Amino acid sequence: MNEFVLQMKNISKKFPGVQALDNVNFDLHRGEVHALVGENGAGKSTLIKILAGAVKKDSGEIFLNGKPKEIATPGDAQRSGIAVIYQELMLVPALSVAENIFFGRMALRWRFFINRTLLRRQAQIILQRVGLKVDVQQKLSSLPVAQQQMVEVAKALSVNANIIVMDEPSAVLTAHELAKLFEIVRQLKKKGVAFIYISHRLEEIFEIADRVTVLRDGKIQGTKTIEEVDRNSLVQMMVGRKIEFWNHGQSTAAKNEPVLEVEKLRTPTLADEISLKINAGEILGVAGLVGSGRTEMARAILGADKRISGYVKLAGRKLTIKSPADAIKAGIGFVPEDRKDQGLFFDLNIMSNMTISNLSAQSRNGMIRKNLEKKNAIALAKQLQIKMGHLNDSVNSLSGGNQQKVILSRWFGGNVKAVIFDEPTRGVDVAAKAQIHELIYELTQQGIAVMIISSELPEILKLSDRIIVMREGKIAGEMSAEDASEEKIVSLAS
Ligand SMILES: Nc1ncnc2c1ncn2[C@@H]1O[C@H](COP(=O)(O)OP(=O)(O)OP(=O)(O)O)[C@@H](O)[C@H]1O
Ligand SMILES: [Mg+2]
Repeated sequence: MNEFVLQMKNISKKFPGVQALDNVNFDLHRGEVHALVGENGAGKSTLIKILAGAVKKDSGEIFLNGKPKEIATPGDAQRSGIAVIYQELMLVPALSVAENIFFGRMALRWRFFINRTLLRRQAQIILQRVGLKVDVQQKLSSLPVAQQQMVEVAKALSVNANIIVMDEPSAVLTAHELAKLFEIVRQLKKKGVAFIYISHRLEEIFEIADRVTVLRDGKIQGTKTIEEVDRNSLVQMMVGRKIEFWNHGQSTAAKNEPVLEVEKLRTPTLADEISLKINAGEILGVAGLVGSGRTEMARAILGADKRISGYVKLAGRKLTIKSPADAIKAGIGFVPEDRKDQGLFFDLNIMSNMTISNLSAQSRNGMIRKNLEKKNAIALAKQLQIKMGHLNDSVNSLSGGNQQKVILSRWFGGNVKAVIFDEPTRGVDVAAKAQIHELIYELTQQGIAVMIISSELPEILKLSDRIIVMREGKIAGEMSAEDASEEKIVSLAS
């Protein structure tokens, strides 16, 4: 049982301005789950990208089953039996589900000769293993992100890897899909498959991991068996200091003064019309399963989806919103669920990505003042603890959690009247999460109306003054914070 399938020795990697990995040692036993944890930007993804042949290490060695191995390309990794499920979905939205599963393995020049019936049948069999019942001929982009992630999992399983790396798979998974995933992990462990599992949700680590390694600022803080650690000691190792958890209780800022009003809004995707109100300084939590219409509702309010009837009022004024750009102009901020697809501008630098929706705050007399923009960006980066080389670097160079913070930063210190957050702390580490909750709380102190869509019930319960629960494209119920409990929400949602 105790043979090493993988040893990574003295791995170092420097990016311009950042020592991402500093003499890192990491190993993997046959049939174990080894969790890798650490704050945003600690170096977790970089380590596994080196293992996957996607990033070149500066120094260090990799051994597979005790033998040194050069992994220079993703092809090398694949041939060595290493499969990686990346933090950011790597699938191709425009291809079908089946094509995505076999993408990279069916040589393009053979495309015309591919036996499509066979391909579909094999794809179906693979999807069955992860419990996904979808039409494999439909475009991947038509699936909700959670299901897209399960397609990615299925794809990794289909190559019969003996090392499977999962970089925050759970960030977009529902509880149901996560349970399914863990079931598969346990089955494969028995067959000797070893896993590297990255997650910011420590409950998951305690549920699935045999050992855990903590990275901080590119250095190993320690490797422990799961029995040797508890939540507190793990957090302490990760952040190296005691962190203050948000502890205000519910916001006291809510006034009886409607800011965001949605009147009988109807779109082609929602089953029923939506009406709701959020007062100044109030946080409305939106709970519900993935696919219950939460994101669709947000999109309808923002004008991202076609509207059949109904309207949105902001601070008493009826808005004509035809697109999210109109909504932003009117003063409604938005943090999307999918930062890669809808949030970030990858051809702009970090600073522009932070300040883009809020140019009036950076301007004097209608001119953008570079210095002012920079000053604001620096202050926000500090507040949100964004770990980066330089503000002028590409936003691509940021770790996943730090990209999320960039999107969030747009609405702190801006001129918005209402903000809709769709999964605001996805992929964000424990310390930064507390900081973000604090900042959302501060928004309410300024009289801003806040909507938070979240799949994490503790987050909803902690922040909301009032909670609505969605089910099958409708609002299934509403409750005040005092009356709310996980059980009540779950029973309304399913
Ligand atoms: N391509 C790149 N160019 C420049 N810097 C990079 C690049 N990739 C990563 N970095 C930097 O290396 C450091 C480690 O990043 P990495 O993505 O490994 O963090 P992480 O632990 O996976 O964080 P998260 O939990 O947010 O995903 C960060 O400071 C990041 O900004
Ligand atoms: Mg990462």
